[in-house]
Amino acid sequence: MALAESKVDGLIDVQGLGRRYGEGEAAVDALVDVNLSIARGEMVALMGPSGSGKSTLMNILGLFDRATSGSYALAGTDMLRLSAKAQAEFRGRRIAFVFQGIHLLPRLTALANVELPMAYARMPKDSRIRAAREALALLGVESLANRYPSQMSGGQAQRVAIARAIAPGPDLLLADEPTGALDRKSGRLVLQAFQNLHDQIGVTVVIVTHDPLVAQHAERLIELEDGHVIDDRIVRDRIIVDDGHDSHLGPDGGSK
Ligand SMILES: Nc1ncnc2c1ncn2[C@@H]1O[C@H](COP(=O)(O)OP(=O)(O)OP(=O)(O)O)[C@@H](O)[C@H]1O
Ligand SMILES: [Mg+2]
Repeated sequence: MALAESKVDGLIDVQGLGRRYGEGEAAVDALVDVNLSIARGEMVALMGPSGSGKSTLMNILGLFDRATSGSYALAGTDMLRLSAKAQAEFRGRRIAFVFQGIHLLPRLTALANVELPMAYARMPKDSRIRAAREALALLGVESLANRYPSQMSGGQAQRVAIARAIAPGPDLLLADEPTGALDRKSGRLVLQAFQNLHDQIGVTVVIVTHDPLVAQHAERLIELEDGHVIDDRIVRDRIIVDDGHDSHLGPDGGSK
């Protein structure tokens, strides 16, 4: 069947997706007939004015919320037909969700915070410590491994929280304004970590941002307005963060 074949490289396939909050006169259509396919290994920025439906779409993609119409397939599996329990399992294994102001547990060190989800997933102690240290290093906060959240700056805590999200090795990383509250240097380190995950490990990344400069770090830019996708295009002059200075590469610039 042609439809199934076209999904081979697709990680996310959204068709005619809608999300309506409330009923009757008070109903709000946060998403209307959204069609979107995202291939494995793409890095996508999602932009749009406040209230355009960005977080609503991310929550549906991350399986925290359900669409009220249309379809959503992730890795070829129809997500809207799954039970809440099966969705939670899918989410736990494959999806990392990063948002602004995510909290660390105050009584645990950075390392223990990052290890915790993997402990729940019953990963053996030595492999989860290795994965936790790698993730902290990727975010440039390995020196904070033994510190408690109260001993970190906001930007450092945010990076540790991102390390926690990515340490288990998800296929899909969803980030809702991950750099919104960070200074430029911390924001750069976060973007660099996302690009490393994407360019080196092939993780699919979707980042919501209000900042065109942040969007410029992705390969593709999708714009929402009033719940509709109004633009979907390749990012020209993509910015690649490296240890020295940022370089600009075109879409065929050989970043992979
Ligand atoms: N729980 C809810 N109940 C009713 N309406 C909601 C709810 N959550 C969101 N909305 C509405 O849905 C629309 C989309 O909201 P959403 O949070 O997705 O916007 P956004 O693009 O993420 O905006 P921002 O940039 O401000 O974060 C808005 O009109 C919002 O008021
Ligand atoms: Mg939002």
